[in-house]
Amino acid sequence: MTLRCLRWLERSGMAGLVAGGRVDDPVDVMGLRFPNRVGLAAGLDKNGECIDGLAALGFGFLEIGTVTPRPQPGNPQPRLFRVVEAEAIVNRMGFNNHGVEHLLRQVQASRYRGILGINLGKNFDTPLERAADDYLAGLRQVYVHAGYVTVNISSPNTKDLRRLQGENELRALLGALKAEQGALARTVGRYVPLVVKIAPDLSEGEVEAIGGL
Ligand SMILES: Cc1cc2nc3c(=O)[nH]c(=O)nc-3n(C[C@H](O)[C@H](O)[C@H](O)COP(=O)(O)O)c2cc1C
Repeated sequence: MTLRCLRWLERSGMAGLVAGGRVDDPVDVMGLRFPNRVGLAAGLDKNGECIDGLAALGFGFLEIGTVTPRPQPGNPQPRLFRVVEAEAIVNRMGFNNHGVEHLLRQVQASRYRGILGINLGKNFDTPLERAADDYLAGLRQVYVHAGYVTVNISSPNTKDLRRLQGENELRALLGALKAEQGALARTVGRYVPLVVKIAPDLSEGEVEAIGGL
């Protein structure tokens, strides 16, 4: 409902009136100049269907996705709900999305020229040993459209996805992705940074090991 309202506000030219404009407080990261530090995290606009409406709210960048190569329905509902007694919210969406081709059509139809992160995942039915194929396919397709690309290995809601955070698994995955990124940068003539999204509950040792790869 939020995204539908935002789309409507944007189309009617009123989104800018509701929001207060964009704060200009630039910061340079990864060779990109972000107009400010507050961005939209992945998972709200999974299909890139509200890019212009969200941009009108003044974000310094938008990250759309997670998108998988093929469309998939995600987990059965209920998949996002409150557990009132525990004062908690359970989120187990499972990468519900319309697939990378649909997302790219939305990107092409948008007027946004700011920094657009595109967050990649793997389809739930791609075996873990083939995970790199999904990320590579995603990278190739989104490369020219992205300001940066996120490799999402943080979700607990795709079976075994977090195993990709293991040192050996991640070395292999990143090795393949960095090679492809290098080839794409040469072909396209623009270097698009890769970002790895890891789980928030790794130990410090695990984070350091990942950072050292
Ligand atoms: C309902 C929901 C769906 C999410 N979906 C995604 C997703 O598809 N991909 C992703 O990388 N992160 C996803 N996230 C994680 C957010 O991008 C973000 O990292 C997380 O919510 C922590 O930031 P916060 O403390 O501002 O909520 C999701 C989070 C929520 C609550």
